[in-house]
Amino acid sequence: MGYRDYQERMTKIADISYAIALLSWDQETYMPEKGAAFRAQQIATLSTIAHGLATDNELGGILTDLNKSGSHSLPEKEKRNVARSLRDYSKQKKYSSEFVERLSKTASECFQAWQKAKTENRFALFAPLLATMVDLKKQEAELLGYEAHPYNALLDQYEPGATVAALDILFKDVREQLVKFVKQIAAAPKPEDAFMYKHYPKEKQWNFGLELLKQMHYDFEAGRQDISIHPFTTSFSALDVRVTTKILEDNLKSMIWSCIHEGGHGLYEQGLPTSEYGLPSGEAISLGIHESQSRLWENNVGRCLPYWKANYERLQKLYPENLGKVTLEQFYRAMNRVEPSFIRIEADELTYHFHILVRYDVEKKLIAGKIQVKELPEYWNSRYKEYLGIDVPSDDKGVLQDIHWSHGSFGYFPTYSLGSFYAAQFYHRANMEIKGLETLIEQGNLLPLLQWLREKIHKHGKFYTAEELCTQVTGEKLNFKYFMEYAKNKYGAIYNLKKEKV
Ligand code: CO
Repeated sequence: MGYRDYQERMTKIADISYAIALLSWDQETYMPEKGAAFRAQQIATLSTIAHGLATDNELGGILTDLNKSGSHSLPEKEKRNVARSLRDYSKQKKYSSEFVERLSKTASECFQAWQKAKTENRFALFAPLLATMVDLKKQEAELLGYEAHPYNALLDQYEPGATVAALDILFKDVREQLVKFVKQIAAAPKPEDAFMYKHYPKEKQWNFGLELLKQMHYDFEAGRQDISIHPFTTSFSALDVRVTTKILEDNLKSMIWSCIHEGGHGLYEQGLPTSEYGLPSGEAISLGIHESQSRLWENNVGRCLPYWKANYERLQKLYPENLGKVTLEQFYRAMNRVEPSFIRIEADELTYHFHILVRYDVEKKLIAGKIQVKELPEYWNSRYKEYLGIDVPSDDKGVLQDIHWSHGSFGYFPTYSLGSFYAAQFYHRANMEIKGLETLIEQGNLLPLLQWLREKIHKHGKFYTAEELCTQVTGEKLNFKYFMEYAKNKYGAIYNLKKEKV
């Protein structure tokens, strides 16, 4: 008994979890249609085994002992691993098998109702199941326990340490500063972007995407890219990290920036220490920090001018008929077109956060019982009018658009915005610490930036909390001003906004 025993048990749990991840990856990429039913059964069986190991009383005993004695004998990293695993273990133990079953049954019914409701554009079909789901989530918050606000218990599952108190401050800044700024942008003439939607044959897009990943130093000996309906990243160890992409022949933007985005997730996973396999110190910190890595590459790097100074000519040569007459400057402005729209996943990097603001506001109020499910469409539409200045034409383009609530994922959305805000703060720091960063990017040399991220963020796994990491890397806690500064500098120039007005 001891640390080694703990580590062996965690390794086994990881082995099973990664096997599940591999089955799921296959399900989304290559599995033939008829394989679905048995595949679901195989994943369910392995999940039950993993859950059994993770909630085993003996593991609990080992963790409790190590945690008690750890304060004297264990080195800091081991001590933190034990404390985090004990926290996870105690949480898992709070769920009765009855409750888990009810949650999973409701989720599958709720998902089906959502699909039908979205297809038929009838919120009423979804509302009763969603109300049941919200009730279960309220119960879940109670059984997990929380301070100050029940929504905190749910947030903590995706972003450990995140609270309503802290997010309220962040989103207040979004509301007060970003909404005003985007209104200024909306009043300026829009960049022309019709050439992005010409015909772009698949194969050339695929090859260009692979080149971008190589340039980022995504390791193809420890990973690969495939096609899926929704792009995602998954990992079976730091030495086998899979990314997927989606190619639309009538939309060049879709592949390029989803490829860079998933590449950023992939680099984080490939940079985690292999010696810490299965332990918290070998895992990503949180969804917000994960998303900071994908968005730093996608937006701060992948939508900046120097990056395209390095890459645009090659792209232009691939599609001379579409891009031959489009200048670098025009291409850059087109990729950064800002325009309020209904659909979150199609939003630009600024208005995106209004979509999250609405969802955060709705979730918080639902869980606190301040609004009811049946009031959602009206409430949703009024928020879109206020923040984005648009009239939602129908519920399938409004409150029914996202899958998350049907799965029971309440507390997930805010991590997307956190990701962008962390990214801006990290990138600001990288720019200070890496000499001539933008010149390096202009030369297509992305290695110094990757090495900086490896050293500052990736290699630490979950040793730090998100807040500790942010302070460690940038000297202060998460601060919205870095995102706002980035937005004003970049878009102020693109849209010719007068400095004093900004
Ligand atoms: Co992502």
